[in-house]
Amino acid sequence: MNFQFLKLETEGRVWTLTLNRPDALNALNAALLNELGEALTFVEKSFPKQCLGLVITGQGEKSFVAGADIKEMRGLNPIEAETFARRGQSVFRQIEKLPVPVIAAVNGFALGGGLELALACDFIYASDNARMGLPEVSLGLIPGFGGTVRLARTIGLNQARELIFTGDMIKADQALALGLANKVLPQAELVAAAKKTLETIATRGPLAVQSSKKAALEAYDQDVDLGLKTESNAFANLFTTRDMNEGTAAFVEKRKAAFTGE
Ligand code: CAA
Repeated sequence: MNFQFLKLETEGRVWTLTLNRPDALNALNAALLNELGEALTFVEKSFPKQCLGLVITGQGEKSFVAGADIKEMRGLNPIEAETFARRGQSVFRQIEKLPVPVIAAVNGFALGGGLELALACDFIYASDNARMGLPEVSLGLIPGFGGTVRLARTIGLNQARELIFTGDMIKADQALALGLANKVLPQAELVAAAKKTLETIATRGPLAVQSSKKAALEAYDQDVDLGLKTESNAFANLFTTRDMNEGTAAFVEKRKAAFTGE
């Protein structure tokens, strides 16, 4: 696929999507958001035959994504601003609901919409120069692409409130301590480390990984009883799959499973 502001590397079964607008520190304008939506739809359709995992990162050594494009955004009227926020939210929701696991490889600034994008991924690996924050209050705004919803879910309400109210940027080691980043790596090793984790996941049953991602996301919004019901339904559904048959047979026969995503 050809994009103006994205690079999608589709070799192998773990793909890499790079936001590629380095002159603006990969800030999200409307065109980039649209391209992101198209690329995600392509990833979705490529599961499970071609794609079993996705790394999302930013071009260059300085920035993952420095937020929504402030220069473009500031000309919007309130109705257009709501449409813009809804658009960003829906593209990030698409990431959250992708059938494949997604790691945000945060290679520098992840601010505003950039951190919100990373929060919509399944988890975050950060380079040692990463800086994360929701600085919208410094612009007289609040986060508009899901930050008030997802940050608290990841690091807890009070830690989230402090970051949102102050607009402060935190460093990679603080992000690690807060549970915002799962790992901190030297920048040169960041994307390779994310790919390696996804390659490991890609050896597991693809339908099982997809199902666990979906169940964990759904159950998060449900009370315990409903969450457990969601889980047992998903568990039962996997008993109709060839992969479950293969995975359990491979255990009994003491060999490696050959999953096909069926
Ligand atoms: N929008 C548009 N352009 C941006 C941008 C953004 N979010 N962030 C950086 N840029 C542009 C700069 O304007 C600059 O372009 P010019 O050379 O044409 O002036 C270029 O990228 C390089 O940036 P800086 O010169 O500012 O680089 P720096 O190293 O001095 O500072 C920075 C880096 C601290 C990240 C700084 O660029 C910055 O504060 N950026 C804005 C961060 C921000 O406020 N993000 C939130 C946006 S609002 C949002 O995201 C709302 C939402 O939830 C949807």
